[in-house]
Amino acid sequence: MDQINIYSADEIISRIIVEDGIEALDACLEPYAAVYVVMDSNVAMQCPAAYELSQMLNRRGVPGMLLEVSEEAKSMETVMDICGWLLDNGADRDALVLAVGGGITTDMVGFAASLYKRGVRFAYVPTTLLAQVDAAIGGKTGVNFGGYKNMLGTIRQPEFTYICPQVLESLPMEAFQAGASEMLKTFIIEDNDNYRPAVQLLAELASEFIAAAEGNTYSYSMEKWPEILSERLSELTPFIAAAAKVKAGVVSRDQFEGGERRKLNLGHTFGHAIEALAHKQHNDIDHGHAVALGMVYAARLAENLGMAEEGFATMIEKDLDSCLLLVMSPYGVREMADAMGKDKKAEGGKVHFVLPRAVGDVVIHDMTVEEVVALLA
Ligand code: GLY
Repeated sequence: MDQINIYSADEIISRIIVEDGIEALDACLEPYAAVYVVMDSNVAMQCPAAYELSQMLNRRGVPGMLLEVSEEAKSMETVMDICGWLLDNGADRDALVLAVGGGITTDMVGFAASLYKRGVRFAYVPTTLLAQVDAAIGGKTGVNFGGYKNMLGTIRQPEFTYICPQVLESLPMEAFQAGASEMLKTFIIEDNDNYRPAVQLLAELASEFIAAAEGNTYSYSMEKWPEILSERLSELTPFIAAAAKVKAGVVSRDQFEGGERRKLNLGHTFGHAIEALAHKQHNDIDHGHAVALGMVYAARLAENLGMAEEGFATMIEKDLDSCLLLVMSPYGVREMADAMGKDKKAEGGKVHFVLPRAVGDVVIHDMTVEEVVALLA
């Protein structure tokens, strides 16, 4: 078992437990007298590890609520449904609410738990790569509101986040790529040692995916993907743990995002703009692809500002491309500018851009979107 802690001053405020199997979750739940589970309805029958998890929770006799999860349902109404269910089931101040699912589930359940009876304890079993390396770590909870993502929410730490890569066995390709982008983002921010071997593994997985498609249909290789992934999961585990460790460190130093935590938004200012424009045009783009494109733009910006060495952006671009994370940008820089200014992270006309000077070295640089357009157009 790998345990990674998140600290506030010298006190542990949240634990991240990385385990090969799901069994050890039982011991993690032992200290809590009253556990309430809220689970993504798709998870229970997803793969053997998820089935084992459901059986374990059944054996414990904990009440369970199944959630229909989607970006549209990531709303205050669903949070109120969760609170209503907790109330109906007699959840008290000593309750532990356990969220099992991807980032949408953990965000909503964490938010509900931080409101219910002025806040009860909660914990996560993330079932997507994105949630394991990012969303389920660091205490950001929330729902979409007023047309903006995560506009309502809290920062409140889970008791623990139980990471078991085996539950990723049946993760679809697009969902995997969203997590892979965030994992590489984390290494670009602060882990030069893991970046290159992680790119290598992801590129090998991508090659196996392409090889499966040869002589077959694209949907055949999509079907084949879980098999390709499950055979290499044990090689992925150390990278998941390393990314979780980087994030835990950043959050320990800046839990409430006064400064350093903003670095975790690398690639997201452009990425969110791309996602928002695509959504408006009913032509949604995967989060992983949007963030990967965003990281290439951020690297180009850093290079054009003289912060990164010449060729750096091309290197990042090639690396992401080798992992099948890059698609052609559907929008020009000018088109993205307006959407960027509207991002909730824009303050006083300036946007906090996260710029990579090299792998493992990023800085936060405040710029107007006009300055960005001038540098990139
Ligand atoms: N996903 C960015 C953060 O947790 O700060």
